[in-house]
Amino acid sequence: MEYLIAGNWKMNGSVAFAQELAANLAAKNKAGAPRAAVLLCPQAPLLSLVAGICAGSGIAVGAQDCHTADKGAHTGDIAAGLIAELGCSYVIVGHSERRADHGETDAAVRAKAEAALRAGLTPIICVGETDAEREKGQTSEVIARQVKGSVPQAATGGNCVIAYEPVWAIGTGKTATVADIAPVHTQIHGLFGESGRIGAGLRVLYGGSVKGSNAATILACAGVGGALVGGASLDPEDFWKIVGACP
Ligand code: 13P
Repeated sequence: MEYLIAGNWKMNGSVAFAQELAANLAAKNKAGAPRAAVLLCPQAPLLSLVAGICAGSGIAVGAQDCHTADKGAHTGDIAAGLIAELGCSYVIVGHSERRADHGETDAAVRAKAEAALRAGLTPIICVGETDAEREKGQTSEVIARQVKGSVPQAATGGNCVIAYEPVWAIGTGKTATVADIAPVHTQIHGLFGESGRIGAGLRVLYGGSVKGSNAATILACAGVGGALVGGASLDPEDFWKIVGACP
């Protein structure tokens, strides 16, 4: 299965910055035979611009969130169908920053993933334990609860992606070790298979302080199908090192 390297730009980037970063990466992707599928997830107002720049380069574009409903009176929210219409093919749902900042529950994340599937988008469903949960030895319990609660029944290995992002490793520079990552990825593949869904080909991304210097070790871990990259995705050279580090 081809690896997926996704850049989550979060709430960063002016129009000029996005233009330059997307054009740089589109040129890199066209020039060489990339070792992975590449996805860029800018802020919503930049989606159309970035999708236009990436068209024809092989780079996919995705949003960072969508609403649970297809349309309606939801001021400030974003419809999955519109994201698709702008030329995007993915949407991140249930990122820990949204779970924390907007109180998103597993049920809400699941409804968002369902809305994404209805729109023909591939949801990237994020799960991950906090530092406190890890300290209490609750990692596998939290992951099981989030996967069971956040992943739609209609999800298959072909139409959805799961991202394991330990909250304690996001933006902290603390990278999880192979011993932290491999068991959780194996657990997620197992949970997905057990649920009766078609789990074959499921991509499970790892996210949390991935950078060019640690990507090869992380991407070689059992069950890891790619990376969801925050900070390092804003630097085209470092991001491209991660793409090049895929086994
Ligand atoms: P960092 O790579 O900045 O730790 O962020 C990870 C992340 O949250 C990607 O979604």
